[in-house]
Amino acid sequence: TAAATVRAELLRWYDANRRDLPWRRAAEPGRGRGEERAYAVWVSEVMLQQTRVPVVVDYYCRWMERWPTVHSLAAATQEEVNEMWAGLGYYRRARFLLEGAKQIVEKGKFPCTASTLREVRGIGDYTAGAIASIAFNEVVPVVDGNVVRVMSRLYAIPDNPKESSTVKRFWELTGQLVDPSRPGDFNQAMIELGATLCSKTKPGCSQCPISSHCQALVLSSQNASIKVTDY
Ligand code: ADE
Repeated sequence: TAAATVRAELLRWYDANRRDLPWRRAAEPGRGRGEERAYAVWVSEVMLQQTRVPVVVDYYCRWMERWPTVHSLAAATQEEVNEMWAGLGYYRRARFLLEGAKQIVEKGKFPCTASTLREVRGIGDYTAGAIASIAFNEVVPVVDGNVVRVMSRLYAIPDNPKESSTVKRFWELTGQLVDPSRPGDFNQAMIELGATLCSKTKPGCSQCPISSHCQALVLSSQNASIKVTDY
């Protein structure tokens, strides 16, 4: 089917182009315990929410040296955490990490599904989907602004991405597309495609692994008044 080809081509591109990032190493399948992988993905995804990858790499490495486990983080103070966070901005994220760590330690077990992860303070749909798929292989989607852009072009959906009904629709659509055998890699590939080739302006369609399936690209060539960047 078309979906199977899109998955295969996207994953082939990701395998050939993926950046070697410290949290990707930490979350490799079969590496350590699920709880350790989950903690690494959680910290990295929260940092990545408002900050670019190269900056996050430094902060992430320092953070993991200081607090290598969710238990060690739970024993930290807010002052220590803020000090480590200095320069990243949006300190609410640092507060949520500490509160979340305390909550998880109190529970006695790192939640391992998207729906139970969402019960942790500060973990929303995005972070829950990222941890569940990348650390625990749960077949759930992850939708951020990058993924919305990729999906809206792929299926030529002109809906306003700022409306909550649109975002809901994208979670459903992406949920149908997630690769059932490699959900974490699929989600990271979508995010990475949206952050690199499938950019807002001047998308690199000629290098895009799934351009032959892109409905926005088909419409652009059929009708010069509609451009890929209209989506
Ligand atoms: N941005 C958000 N999540 C990311 C991830 N897992 N890898 C690279 N960039 C990201």
